[in-house]
Amino acid sequence: MVKTTLMHVGPSIGDYDVQLAGVCPDQGFASEKFKSAMSEALKGINYVMGCDDSYLPFIIPGSGTIAMESVTTFLQRKDKILVISNGVFGNRWEGIFSRYDVELTILKSHAGYCVSHEDIMGSLNRKHYKMIISTHVETSTGVKFPIEKYAKIFREHCDIIVVDGVASVGGELVKTSEWDIDIYITASQKAIGAPPGAGILVVKKKLFQDYSDENISGYFTNLMNWKPVMETSIEGNGGYFATPPIGVVFSLRNAFARIRDETMEKRVERHKKLSRSLRRGIKSMGLGIVAQEGYESSTVTGVLLKDMDADLFVKNALKFGVEFAVGVHPDLKGKYFRIGHMGWVSREDIFKALNAIYNTMKEHDPKTPMPDMDSFFE
Ligand SMILES: Cc1ncc(COP(=O)(O)O)c(C=O)c1O
Repeated sequence: MVKTTLMHVGPSIGDYDVQLAGVCPDQGFASEKFKSAMSEALKGINYVMGCDDSYLPFIIPGSGTIAMESVTTFLQRKDKILVISNGVFGNRWEGIFSRYDVELTILKSHAGYCVSHEDIMGSLNRKHYKMIISTHVETSTGVKFPIEKYAKIFREHCDIIVVDGVASVGGELVKTSEWDIDIYITASQKAIGAPPGAGILVVKKKLFQDYSDENISGYFTNLMNWKPVMETSIEGNGGYFATPPIGVVFSLRNAFARIRDETMEKRVERHKKLSRSLRRGIKSMGLGIVAQEGYESSTVTGVLLKDMDADLFVKNALKFGVEFAVGVHPDLKGKYFRIGHMGWVSREDIFKALNAIYNTMKEHDPKTPMPDMDSFFE
């Protein structure tokens, strides 16, 4: 029997101790054990996202999408929003805002590329926006948007800067305070490395001062309803608006404790180094990388195949013990697959991924060259 390693793009590679921490029968949200886990998990979010005390962290039952939709807490009818979309998950904002009476401008890139600087500057110079949204790592292609470079520019052209870090937080450098981002969004199941079940975000406390009942958010997605609970919970006193994802919170606490032990600096370095080795191995087998050079993320890699159906590739690779993710960008459908290398990813996982790619390719083309593994020994 072959043991399968999950190198999907989320949930991704699991950790036994983190998952086990979530098995906690007979724990209610009012128990002292849960209240202390929730407090530590919230503080862990601030650490991983690089936030000072001017931010409030949120854990909301659901997933990354609920955290995305919760930005409507700060919007009113007819507000102007600019979305810089580098792929499928950037485009998700179109779906979200189609349910609300706001004026959306969305800039889109070619698959594997970031929206060009000229296009961004063109839209910025045209009007002032209430909100500018970008995706740090676009999971449909693996491309990374240089938010650290753009945050200052956005500040001059909008009131609220939002970053979707669902596929970056926990694996990429995130400095929410330093970059002066207003809202950074993520989820439990990706580079933080806990099971799915929670949408996570940090919000600059100052934003709540301008809240009005005219704002357009619904009920569950309205962060005003969650704010008092997060304020008391971070102090260890718990609270209730809707039932929290109890097991996920225990897992998150465990994950954050391990992340603090490793330190975010070393975790970011590990992701960088392993993703570099992975890309080098892939290229040495004659395959392509979807993300444009210089914009590759450390958490997700899209791999372009030459003459093999990528969905079939993913199915065949299972025989060699790795579950990859199929490609979802409509412009490259069937031409590429994706690898999630985030959270608890190790050198052994990268070896296993390259081995699975090599063997799957070899069945298709016996002349496939062996992957270059030299970088592992440098
Ligand atoms: C960049 C990005 N944003 C948002 C989402 C949506 O998150 P979820 O599936 O947890 O709702 C995803 C999911 O893969 C994502 O990768």
